[in-house]
Amino acid sequence: MAEETLVLFKNIRNPKYSKSLEGYKKAGGYHTLKKVFGMKPEEVVQTVKDSGVRGRGGAGFPTGLKWSFMPKGTGKPSYLIANADESEPGTCKDRELMLKDPHLFLEGMMIGCYAVGCHHGYIYIRGEFFPAIKSLNTAVEELYADGLLGPDPLGSGFHLDLTIHSGAGAYICGEESALLDSLEGKRGQPRVKPPFPAVSGFNGCPTSVNNVETLACMPFILGDDGVDAFKSFGPQNNSGTHLVSLSGHVKKPGVYELRMDVNMKDIIYGIGGGIRNGKKLKGVIPGGSSSSVMTADEVDVLYNFDELAKIDTMLGSSAMMVFDEDTDVVQLLHRITRFYAHESCGQCTPCREGTHWSRNIIRDFLNGNGSDEKLRRLDRVGGNMLGTTLCALGDAAALPIQSFVKKFPDDFRKYYANK
Ligand SMILES: Cc1cc2nc3c(=O)[nH]c(=O)nc-3n(C[C@H](O)[C@H](O)[C@H](O)COP(=O)(O)O)c2cc1C
Repeated sequence: MAEETLVLFKNIRNPKYSKSLEGYKKAGGYHTLKKVFGMKPEEVVQTVKDSGVRGRGGAGFPTGLKWSFMPKGTGKPSYLIANADESEPGTCKDRELMLKDPHLFLEGMMIGCYAVGCHHGYIYIRGEFFPAIKSLNTAVEELYADGLLGPDPLGSGFHLDLTIHSGAGAYICGEESALLDSLEGKRGQPRVKPPFPAVSGFNGCPTSVNNVETLACMPFILGDDGVDAFKSFGPQNNSGTHLVSLSGHVKKPGVYELRMDVNMKDIIYGIGGGIRNGKKLKGVIPGGSSSSVMTADEVDVLYNFDELAKIDTMLGSSAMMVFDEDTDVVQLLHRITRFYAHESCGQCTPCREGTHWSRNIIRDFLNGNGSDEKLRRLDRVGGNMLGTTLCALGDAAALPIQSFVKKFPDDFRKYYANK
């Protein structure tokens, strides 16, 4: 039976742990940062590359490679921005770290700043996250009071400041280039890429945007035997543990830290305790609402980046939403699509129009006005958004639409079968 593997949640799962700076130090915290300050930044980047860690924000891009893209000697400052927006529906794992072990994330962020030569890092956090903002503010104040932030942390001579910036709660501001515009005080809208943030990011300077959980992996990776241990937690190219936000009709929803070689079935029936009220599984949205839905027949698969990609879906932010046989998937898709229609920034026509058209078509089904032609049209409208927008919000809206239509057509037909 699957069990948690505690790396990021090691402190959180310890009932005696105190999340204060003192508590974190007592648990060995900031020890790795000291070690890192004795390394060259290039060595830190290489170690992160060697670990194979891939970003936990959704796209799964290798973090070491991303950091290695940051140009040197440009005469401009370099920036590292932590993406603490966590707005992907179903995802609630960065919140756990920020609330319950903020120093683990902050140590990781400081390691990242050192690796990319950033002397002023920003944490971009969603505006509604009041308790997490408070928790981070307290932790950053503790660091300044202790001298771990400021001119000379741990006698390293590496001046480092951290600023917490809260957004206003827009999903699009989790997309890294919209985040950067928002951080610069503009309306948060995705940028045309290239140039990518590594070349021209915050204020036109080299920038790396990294997810909170990704950064929280750094104290372990850079710690003693970190790379080998990290790699041992999953198959090749899928190293480490990840924080799985398990929600929906399981008996034991929650955020669990799992290796990358755990089968989805074990997560649903072991970790999650199975489907509540004795019901049968109908399907799973595996990686936040932006991923293609899976049917009950497809869940006998390892829950990691590559295995899910092989079956045309994705790990995304590791947020599994499980639904039972009684679920009306047309209503479910309507709710998801309504979200994307509301959150589309409106900049790209296929997304601005497509999210609204698809929501309206699904609403037609719910109102008894569905038809075979509308089902085909819904699929077409989804297809028109795929790969045609500046950022991945268009894809995020299209993938659930097309996969629900493909995998659950009878659920749509039920709405107009007797017409
Ligand atoms: C519409 C949209 C919303 C996103 N929201 C988030 C988010 O809330 N948190 C996050 O870390 N990444 C989010 N991302 C992904 C980021 O653009 C970026 O890939 C990520 O922050 C990079 O960090 P990582 O390499 O550590 O995963 C979003 C992407 C899109 C297209």
